[in-house]
Amino acid sequence: MNGNIKAYYPFEIKKLDKEEYAEVFKHFNGDTGTIEDFIRVGPKGYWFISGFAEEAPKIYNMELRPDDVWVISYPKSGTTWMQELVWQVANDFDYAKAELIPLMQRFPFLEFALFFNGEKAQTVLGRNEKDKAFLDAMSKSFDQVSSMPSPRFIKSHLPLSLLPPALLDSCRVVHVARDPRDVAVSYYHHYHFFGYMGYTGNFKHFWNLFIENKLDWTPYFENVKESWRMRDHPNMLFLFYEDALRDLPSTVKRVAAFLGKAVTEEQVSRLCDHLAFDNFKKNKSVNFEAIKEISVVNKDGSFIRKGKAGDWRGYFDEEMMQQAQRWMEHNLRDTDLRFPTVE
Ligand code: A3P
Repeated sequence: MNGNIKAYYPFEIKKLDKEEYAEVFKHFNGDTGTIEDFIRVGPKGYWFISGFAEEAPKIYNMELRPDDVWVISYPKSGTTWMQELVWQVANDFDYAKAELIPLMQRFPFLEFALFFNGEKAQTVLGRNEKDKAFLDAMSKSFDQVSSMPSPRFIKSHLPLSLLPPALLDSCRVVHVARDPRDVAVSYYHHYHFFGYMGYTGNFKHFWNLFIENKLDWTPYFENVKESWRMRDHPNMLFLFYEDALRDLPSTVKRVAAFLGKAVTEEQVSRLCDHLAFDNFKKNKSVNFEAIKEISVVNKDGSFIRKGKAGDWRGYFDEEMMQQAQRWMEHNLRDTDLRFPTVE
C-alpha cells in the first residue's frame, strides 16, 4: 500500500473525553498502565485502547488468503484452547512442531499491537532487554501475520464488522463463545495477571465496567451476536466453551469436519488428552508462562487459570446476579442465541 494514501476505513474513531469517563479512569493506575486513553469505534461503539486506531484500517483492508484459518472470540472465552485444537487438527496432529514453536507464533494475535503502540507502552515496557524485545515483537503483530507462510492461523478478538468484509466468503472462521459471567471473572483475573493493564478496582466495579461496555473489545454481546448471526455460513463454525468442556471429543470432531479432515477415534482421544486442562496448563507452548519474564506481568497469576463453567457464582452477590439476569435477558431478546449451561 502506498504510504501516502490513507487506508479506507468506514468507521468513526472517537477519542473519549476523560472528564466524562473519570469514574473508569479512577480505577486504572496511570503510572504502570498502558490504559491511558481509550477510543470507541463504529456505530456499536466498540471500546479499545487508543493504540487500535493505528491497527484498525490495516486490519480492515488486509489481504486474505483462501487457506487462512481464523479463531475469533470475545477475550477469555477459551480462545487459546480452541486455537491449539484447531491448529492440531489442521496440522495432522504435529505435536513435535507444536512443542517446538509457541502457539503465539504458530497462531498469532492479529491486533496485539494495539497494546504496544504509542509512547506510554514504550515507557512502561521499555525497562529491560526482555521487555524491549517483547515490545518490539508484539508491536509488529500485523506484519507478523502478513508475512506468515500459508496456511496462516490467525487469532482475533475483533467482531466481524471490524475485520475485512470479505472474511467469511474467503476463509474459514471458528468463533468460540462463553457465558459472559464467566468471561467477566476470567477477564478480571487477566487484568491482574497482565499488570500493565493497570486495573486497581475490585470485581464488582469491573463487572459494571463490563456490562456498561467500558472495557476492551466491549460491547460483549454485539461481538458474539455478529458471529452468531453468521453461524449458518459454510465458512463459520460457532462453538461454545461450555460444550467443549462437557464433551471435548465432539468439539474436536466438529472442528475436523469443518476443516475437511478425517480423524480416527485414537487421534481424537490423544488430542483430548493433550488439551485436558491439567496438561494444557503445563504445556509451555500454550500456557504463556514465558510472558512472566516481562516486568509488568504478575508472577503469581497464570493465563490458564481454572478452566471451569459456572465459577462466576463465587464472585456475584445477589444484586449482581439479578443485574446479570436482566442484562442477559435484555441482550438476548432479539436473538435465539442461548448459552449451554453446565452445572
Ligand atoms: P479461566 O480464567 O476462567 O480459568 P482465552 O484463551 O480466550 O483468554 O480464555 C482463557 C480461559 O480459558 C481461562 O479461563 C482459561 O483457564 C481457560 N482455558 C484455557 N485452557 C483450557 C483448557 N484446556 N480447558 C479448559 N479451560 C481452559
